[in-house]
Amino acid sequence: MRNEASQLQQMMKECRSRAKVLAITSGKGGVGKTNIAANLAICMAASQKRVLLLDADLSLGNLDVIMNFNSKYNISHIFDGQKSINDIIHNGPEGLEIICGASGLEELANLSEFQRHRLLNDLSKLQDDRDTIVIDTAAGISWSVVGFCFAADHVLVVTTPEAAAMTDAYAMIKVLVGKNFAGQISLIVNNADTVKEGKNTYEQMSKVVRRFLNIPIYDGGVLLKDERLLSAIRMRKPVVLAYPKAQITSSLMALAVKLDNGSAVQDDTEGFFKKVVDWFF
Ligand SMILES: Nc1ncnc2c1ncn2[C@@H]1O[C@H](COP(=O)(O)OP(=O)(O)OP(=O)(O)O)[C@@H](O)[C@H]1O
Ligand SMILES: [Mg+2]
Repeated sequence: MRNEASQLQQMMKECRSRAKVLAITSGKGGVGKTNIAANLAICMAASQKRVLLLDADLSLGNLDVIMNFNSKYNISHIFDGQKSINDIIHNGPEGLEIICGASGLEELANLSEFQRHRLLNDLSKLQDDRDTIVIDTAAGISWSVVGFCFAADHVLVVTTPEAAAMTDAYAMIKVLVGKNFAGQISLIVNNADTVKEGKNTYEQMSKVVRRFLNIPIYDGGVLLKDERLLSAIRMRKPVVLAYPKAQITSSLMALAVKLDNGSAVQDDTEGFFKKVVDWFF
């Protein structure tokens, strides 16, 4: 009997899935991470997925501007116990949920063992109850940015066709490979003048990464330079909602569909938040 019960428990454990975590990063600043993260997350949420967008850029994060909400509370407000996790979740379009200030997770390392355990349990539930978590990271290759990427299942590296952006994107990929990142890495080429230019950028990066780092990087697609993105930002509306028929919207939707295939992963790992805390601790 006991044997059957433990077998059942084992099977239940194997069947449980938790959110797949996508981290959006770049190395170079200002290449479009926040806009891509916000719009991608909305496209995913629109297809009935439970999606959480985590703003891991405390310093310059402008997710609240693009999404037009007031980010009064963030992760740091749950450390003193005054706010619960549910209090700091903002409601975005299409049922998307947003949490600001994931960089505050670094503070978890300073808590007592008991407090940390309790908070980690609460944070882990966020991953258990959702299909996808999208993380918008800060610019640069700091310890904390690498930590968020390393804990993710899939890292989307954003570059533009400019040499400086490509160099920084390569440096980010090199750091992840050097630390034996086990997940998937994809390259998104943003702000391209033509699809051809974007594809060339991907081909060049892919070739160099394969040659010097010996790994494949997947094609995350090309997003063209589009005035409507700027106009949407001025309206404080994500471009996929402001301009549903624009080409950039179709490209973002196509990327969301591609990434959605296979979202929610088997629960055979320690979970994203535990990995992040272990990284900082
Ligand atoms: N496809 C695009 N077409 C036109 N402009 C774009 C495009 N993508 C990004 N931009 C411009 O780049 C700016 C920066 O975008 P965004 O804030 O998303 O970049 P970021 O990588 O998150 O920046 P940071 O590194 O500061 O966090 C936007 O405000 C917009 O002006
Ligand atoms: Mg940003």
